[in-house]
Amino acid sequence: MSIDLSITVNGMRFDNPFVLGSGPPGTNGKVIARSFDLGWGGMVCKTFSLDASKVINTVPRYAKLKARESDEVIGFENIELISDRPFEDWIDDLTQLKKQYPDRILIASIMEEYRKEAWQEIVRKVQETGVDAFELNLSCPHGLPERKMGMAMGENPDIVEEVVGWAKAVSKIPVWAKMTPNVGSPTAPAGAALRAGADGIAMINTILSVVGVDLKTLRPMPTVEGYTVPGGYSGQAVRPIALRQVMEVARAHPGVEISGIGGIETGRDAAQFMLLGASTVQVCTGAMLRGYEMIAELKAELEGFMREHGFTNLREFIGKSLPYFSTHHDLGDRQKAAREAKESARAKARGRDAEVWKGDIAKEAKDLATN
Ligand SMILES: Cc1cc2nc3c(=O)[nH]c(=O)nc-3n(C[C@H](O)[C@H](O)[C@H](O)COP(=O)(O)O)c2cc1C
Repeated sequence: MSIDLSITVNGMRFDNPFVLGSGPPGTNGKVIARSFDLGWGGMVCKTFSLDASKVINTVPRYAKLKARESDEVIGFENIELISDRPFEDWIDDLTQLKKQYPDRILIASIMEEYRKEAWQEIVRKVQETGVDAFELNLSCPHGLPERKMGMAMGENPDIVEEVVGWAKAVSKIPVWAKMTPNVGSPTAPAGAALRAGADGIAMINTILSVVGVDLKTLRPMPTVEGYTVPGGYSGQAVRPIALRQVMEVARAHPGVEISGIGGIETGRDAAQFMLLGASTVQVCTGAMLRGYEMIAELKAELEGFMREHGFTNLREFIGKSLPYFSTHHDLGDRQKAAREAKESARAKARGRDAEVWKGDIAKEAKDLATN
């Protein structure tokens, strides 16, 4: 059975659905080139903006939540901002990468202040590099919201609609809106992005969190000169939340192209996002913890899942588990109906048994009479 892992989304052909998510794995052209060489289907670069001088990162900016009885990282918090590399360096890197890898999918993650001119300037300048698509970062939950950027935009559907509209008005390439999970209902901002013409939804960005408090120093982590800010939580702990949000957006907007993100570390994790409607998947923390080489395992595991079920291409199972979500009331009704069906089957079987006994007794009586 030949299995095809390639997929075409918004006219872009990905060799496989595994995309490195925006963050440290795509911090410059050199590491992005390495990820292409290793076989990642696509790449979203680290978010950048027009003016990097306002971006001051801290050390430390990461903190891990480990399993109780092993060193396994369950969750990961970061207070990292967007890229602090100059805009011109990004333009050079992206231009060079598209020359070197014309057939690989390169997506530029961009963010700007709440000004139409700024968003349209960055879109116009970056698309000249030849990148395949934009991912609008409307979702970073820490640091940037203090400047009314990132999640400060993504949590407000009116602003999402406005900003996506500004980008779409000048973009000649597909635009994905990257959404924040830090909202009551993810369908409202995603719906606003789609109304404004977004070609796809990338979700989720990180979940606002406090990873813990150091019980020796009594300071919350990650601690910078004794202080911290709530940061973005990622890694395997966030996967169930991401799956739920992807499912809700996929059900609310049938056929929408979703790039599923959040705690994906294996091909079988990816398969679950696809069953709930994602057509590509992104990996960030997993690649930070396990290295870019994990792509070989991701592909093999996804292929293994497809072979088990006889799927030969990805579209055969994207969204296949979506019809099995219902209301709690309906679950109760289904359970009652199943119980009743079982009861009546049992009663019927008892009736049949009684008939058989009756027959047996009659036969025995007849035998006795004739003997
Ligand atoms: C250290 C770090 C930096 C990140 N930086 C960005 C960023 O610049 N832009 C962005 O859109 N998402 C950023 N993210 C979010 C990831 O792209 C992703 O949405 C999130 O971490 C959930 O996926 P994961 O569990 O695979 O990491 C960052 C995540 C981490 C851990």
